[in-house]
Amino acid sequence: MKRIIYAIVVLLLVSSCKKGSKPGGTTVPVIPASDTSLQKMLPFKFGGAVNINLLRTNTKYADVAKHEYNSITAENAMKFGALHPQENTYNWTDADYLVNFAQTNGAKRVHGHTLIWHQSLPSWVTNYSGDSAAFENIMKTHIQTVVTRFKGKVTSWDVVNEAFEDSGVLRNSIWRQKLGDDYIARCFQYANQADPDAILFYNDYGHEYSSAKRTAITNMITDFKNRGIPIHGTGMQFHMTVTQSDANISTAINAAAATGLKVHIAELDIRLNNDKVQGLTFTTAMATQQAAKYGYVVKTFNAIPAAQKYGITTWNVGDADSWVPGWLGAPDWPLPFDAVYKRKPAYYSIINAVK
Ligand code: GLA
Repeated sequence: MKRIIYAIVVLLLVSSCKKGSKPGGTTVPVIPASDTSLQKMLPFKFGGAVNINLLRTNTKYADVAKHEYNSITAENAMKFGALHPQENTYNWTDADYLVNFAQTNGAKRVHGHTLIWHQSLPSWVTNYSGDSAAFENIMKTHIQTVVTRFKGKVTSWDVVNEAFEDSGVLRNSIWRQKLGDDYIARCFQYANQADPDAILFYNDYGHEYSSAKRTAITNMITDFKNRGIPIHGTGMQFHMTVTQSDANISTAINAAAATGLKVHIAELDIRLNNDKVQGLTFTTAMATQQAAKYGYVVKTFNAIPAAQKYGITTWNVGDADSWVPGWLGAPDWPLPFDAVYKRKPAYYSIINAVK
């Protein structure tokens, strides 16, 4: 009898603590906030793309990056125009700051974004009038200078970003116009020559909504594998709307995993205001719907083979830092942290999805 009474008392105590209060009436968190973090709770790397100015000047922003992430990407600081503004000028200041931040705050992995893209190009590239061989040399020199500079410090690169249209045809970017369809393969070879240990990704958006694009990317990867072109993973941006179907999300993740290469959900954000409603406010119902979608993405990703889980990166840290409201021209709250870096329901849903 004594034992039963003892067991009941213990049970009552445990359940009152779970609710966040102790017998004395003082509130205690179930898990102290400082003990929880995405990097501790998830069985794969979790990171964010960061803005270097905010990292330098906003302590709360930097604290979230330090505490929560074990992988980090530069939002803009490693793009072509930022690193290589003139033909013979490289500007490493911001990228170096990021690499140093990653190294001195718990040896975070740095993912490089991005070597070759049709955007963020300086005018000396877009106005270049030399012949095809000279343009090839620009591409090769840029890739090899950047990859060599960060050899041993940047673990992986988005070698080429967004080379396909949603229809599945190759985007007629300046690179393709000047260098032909096979420029993508050569970018991977150049990057691999500069750092044979770097993990090389092809990165793009639309895997979740365009089967034509997804198929074109998968076919390119298979072709690269057959030809011995060094490619190691698929980056799926996943800038998505909360109304995206679970079926489409799992089709995209599983198709990328079926290549046998690594999968990086590389730019995740889940927007709530795709209809661009002006004056919309963030409600509990919206937070719940968004949390469920984040949870589904994480759960589905976590189910692929462990060796293929390169990780998940959100595109920036808190809602106020996101590119989405500016792009939509309307309010939105696409990230797991709010404007003052408080954890949203999406945050807890990410953690619960791997339990
Ligand atoms: C694309 C690019 C990123 C970033 C986002 C949002 O997804 O890959 O570098 O520019 O758009 O702006």
